[in-house]
Amino acid sequence: MKILVVYYSMYGHLHRMAEEVAAGAAEVEGAQVLLRRVPETLPQEVLTKMGALEAGKAFSHVPLCTVEELPTADAILFGTPTRFGNMCGQMRQFLDATGSLWAAGALVGKVGSVFAGSATQHGGQESTLLSFHITLLHHGMVVVGLPYAFQEQMRIDEITGGSPYGATTIAGTKGERMPSANELAGARFQGRHVASIAAKLAR
Ligand SMILES: Cc1cc2nc3c(=O)[nH]c(=O)nc-3n(C[C@H](O)[C@H](O)[C@H](O)COP(=O)(O)O)c2cc1C
Repeated sequence: MKILVVYYSMYGHLHRMAEEVAAGAAEVEGAQVLLRRVPETLPQEVLTKMGALEAGKAFSHVPLCTVEELPTADAILFGTPTRFGNMCGQMRQFLDATGSLWAAGALVGKVGSVFAGSATQHGGQESTLLSFHITLLHHGMVVVGLPYAFQEQMRIDEITGGSPYGATTIAGTKGERMPSANELAGARFQGRHVASIAAKLAR
């Protein structure tokens, strides 16, 4: 059983979440888990102004995903930062290159799941997750979120990401906050949950 974790990260928050999602998926017996980034699409000069080139060095070793790789997986977990309440353009562009997979029904019946992050608590995490699900449904994927069985998403004693639609992290407006222990636990739960469902479907 093959699980792909495909994400974009500019400053490392989604990279950290992706690592934890992958670790959770790897806990399921028989799971082969691969971490993949989607290609960058912004010009170098823009990335330089955004301070992204320096930050990106920390995860530049993660191989880039190709569209052709997607059908080889039993389940795919997608990770994206919020951009104006939606997935980032890099992820959108990657998904917009999957038309041939859609035409062939290549992802029909595979498990699809999304995790995300934003700068602020109410800056669009849920809209990012839910609008991402639309693309997965067009591909005929079986959409899986983060069930309330992960009860720590309900805690209010500390600021935390996490929703029934998927694990999330709150990065802060300067990116100063890395995923908390609770957010990482949500990411790990989601990875394990998706892999366990994929294992049942693969039987
Ligand atoms: C162009 C742009 C648009 C963004 N839009 C939002 C937004 O709508 N809401 C929000 O809370 N954060 C927004 N952010 C902040 C990012 O979501 C945040 O930097 C990201 O989640 C950090 O994850 P990363 O380090 O993996 O890139 C935006 C950032 C950029 C650069």
